[in-house]
Amino acid sequence: MKTLLRNLRQSVDYIHAVTDIAPQVALILGSGMGALARDIRNPVKISYENIPHFPIATVEGHAGELVLGTLCNRKVVTMSGRFHYYEGYSLLDITYPVRVMRLLGAAVLVVTNAAGAINRSFKVGDLMLITDHINNIKQDPLRGEHVDDLGVRFVDMTYSYDRDLLALAERVGRKEGVRLQKGVYLASSGPSYETPAEIRGYAAIGADAAGMSTIPEVIVARQMQMRVLGVSCITNMAAGVLDRALSHTEVIETTRKVRADFIRFVKAILKEIRI
Ligand code: HPA
Repeated sequence: MKTLLRNLRQSVDYIHAVTDIAPQVALILGSGMGALARDIRNPVKISYENIPHFPIATVEGHAGELVLGTLCNRKVVTMSGRFHYYEGYSLLDITYPVRVMRLLGAAVLVVTNAAGAINRSFKVGDLMLITDHINNIKQDPLRGEHVDDLGVRFVDMTYSYDRDLLALAERVGRKEGVRLQKGVYLASSGPSYETPAEIRGYAAIGADAAGMSTIPEVIVARQMQMRVLGVSCITNMAAGVLDRALSHTEVIETTRKVRADFIRFVKAILKEIRI
């Protein structure tokens, strides 16, 4: 058997030995939004370091555990502590948990992130539903040995962001009074932010927001035919949109301000999602 598949089965077997929860929805939450995991009822927490073959979280302040349980009447699995390419992980590592969560049963992936607005009509604090993406990380997590059991070799990315989930999120957003935008998310490797010239270029090729995550996970989720909903929290205007420097502090500060609305929004979506 291919090594990746054997490793995944060992990871899943380990989790199955700890809990029989079969999650319907997988959640990968961006910086500051992990607080949602605290609302999971009857949580079963499994440290990444105990799961065979799982990448290990290295960033301070990240717990590094999978949390399985019930949220808004849905069986969920969430990553408390996620992996970024800019931290030095390979795309194979970053996407490994997505494959595990899919093999545990999750058919829907809700993925959130922080992003800078390229689109000048966006405002800091808006939430952007991702309608499509541009992979400026310039690497594909599916490159390399192909494992037939995990999906097709050449994955169609036309409908990567599920239209029904987008419609549902729009409806819920209106009801909840959330400031919603829709747009194209572009991810670069980071960790440096973009230059103003890069942002002008990305605007020209159709990007609305810039970030450093999410796309590898979505590619792997699509290979495994998960339905994906992606939401960006617009934490700042991208480089050069305003005539001032970007600050990570502003990113954190906006996330903190928006957190409660963001969590309320995601929960309201979960309540209405059809599995
Ligand atoms: N660029 C890239 N990643 C980000 C940004 C940005 O402006 N803001 C938050 N994450």
